[in-house]
Amino acid sequence: MAATWLNDAVFYEIYPQSFFDSNGDGIGDIPGMTQKLDYILSLGCNALWINPCFDSPFKDAGYDVRDYKKVAPRYGSNEDLIHFFREAHRRGIRVLLDLVPCHTSEEHPWFRESCREAENEYSHRYIWTDSCWTQPQGIPFVGGEAPRDGCYILSFFKSQPALNFGFGNPTASWQQKAGSPATLETREAIWDVMRFWLEQGCDGFRVDMAGALVKADTPDQAYTQAVYRDLRQRLDRDFPEAALVAEWNVPKHSLNCGFDMDFYLSWAGNGYHSLMRNYDPADYPAGPDRSYFKADSGADPMHFLAEYLPNYLDTCGKGLWCFITGNHDTTRPRFNLTPEELKIAYSFLFTMPGAPFLYYGDEIGMRYRRLPNKEGGFNRTGSRTPMQWTGGKNLGFSQGAPEALYLPVDPAEDAPTVQAQEADPNSLLNYTRAVIALRHSRPDLQARSPFQVYFAQPGSRLLAYRRGKLLCVVNPGRETLALELDRPYAPLFTQGQAELSGNTLAIQGFAVLTPRG
Ligand code: GLC
Ligand code: CA
Repeated sequence: MAATWLNDAVFYEIYPQSFFDSNGDGIGDIPGMTQKLDYILSLGCNALWINPCFDSPFKDAGYDVRDYKKVAPRYGSNEDLIHFFREAHRRGIRVLLDLVPCHTSEEHPWFRESCREAENEYSHRYIWTDSCWTQPQGIPFVGGEAPRDGCYILSFFKSQPALNFGFGNPTASWQQKAGSPATLETREAIWDVMRFWLEQGCDGFRVDMAGALVKADTPDQAYTQAVYRDLRQRLDRDFPEAALVAEWNVPKHSLNCGFDMDFYLSWAGNGYHSLMRNYDPADYPAGPDRSYFKADSGADPMHFLAEYLPNYLDTCGKGLWCFITGNHDTTRPRFNLTPEELKIAYSFLFTMPGAPFLYYGDEIGMRYRRLPNKEGGFNRTGSRTPMQWTGGKNLGFSQGAPEALYLPVDPAEDAPTVQAQEADPNSLLNYTRAVIALRHSRPDLQARSPFQVYFAQPGSRLLAYRRGKLLCVVNPGRETLALELDRPYAPLFTQGQAELSGNTLAIQGFAVLTPRG
């Protein structure tokens, strides 16, 4: 584990097309991101994850890469990105780019070559069956579209053919064993991309669909793990401070093969989901919301702990399983939680182990909006709208015509903005800053400091956990509850009501306590 800077890292995720438009064409861009670095610093964030900003036909918002080594012209140039790295570093901010290793765009030159009838260098860069009549079983594929006689396998949308990292357990002659020469060439090609950007100054990568590299892998994904173990060795040799975060959500695999971090993703029914998004978006707000952080849900944190604890204990000391406020694929947490509820949720997210990730706009509680599909976003589109900076034109996102914007800004009269919340000491923005500052000020609250449950019980809204010698207590409900403490404490940080009398804490909201005496 080389990247020591992760100990105190707080990440901010930027969706580049929606962050800040510097030239009035309606699309966020890299010079715009550079202009906003001081704002990011003011949040207390010292690391960034930038969604894909590479040349692309944008059928999946840039996750369909056409040229890994070229910044998409709509965002600027490679020089702009290199300048951005420099300006970020000058402020002590690290930058992770998004690496998409499982697939490319169907317009990538590698794929164009791979589609040719005549055998060439790229024939096995993707996964093809040996005739167009041989159809892969149980894997999405396309047949009959290319001159080449074969079907090719898809990784996500139709526009995203799967790169060939082979099969763990090949069952047909067209399936290559993971680790065979053609699959090693794919690995080299991805390493070449990583090295290219690391040499330009990026600090690592968020790895897209990290667990999906090798098809028909073993249950513990041994062949996929082998690829990352190799890449990690190369990083340790050439870029020892580089960090990798996986979009995998299987920390016992990802943190075992060289990832510094994995995301605790929002998967229906899982532990994280039960905290923040335990409702049916189709009938919300008519239907029930059983999220732990919803004030009136009555929910306890047991479902979350039953998943989190064993994974945490399994991977403790190996790497970080990271909490997110949301991301470009989830609904915004403000969809179902009020700003006051968000304050309690963020208190928890920013005092848990791992490196927390704040999705742009969640610090002001930007809303989720039901919008028509944009660039393959579908239901995700509503979480990808322009950042709301001011009360001015296009909420300060762009000087362009409103019709030219990547997505419309929030038309609500009370649309939250940075400007309005800067001026309000009780705003979600200023609260988020305070919680992040608290984390920076206390090594006990940082990434690798020990975590232990102090109190949780079926049917109880209370959750108390130790971080190092500190005690964090959460009660997201409306009723004040009593918690017996094991020794005298003094309050270090409180939100809502938190009163100590003797060794009893009466709490509604959130508190961090420090041992006294
Ligand atoms: C990941 C990305 C998502 C993208 C998909 C395919 O899940 O987060 O936005 O559509 O991979 O690359
Ligand atoms: Ca622009």
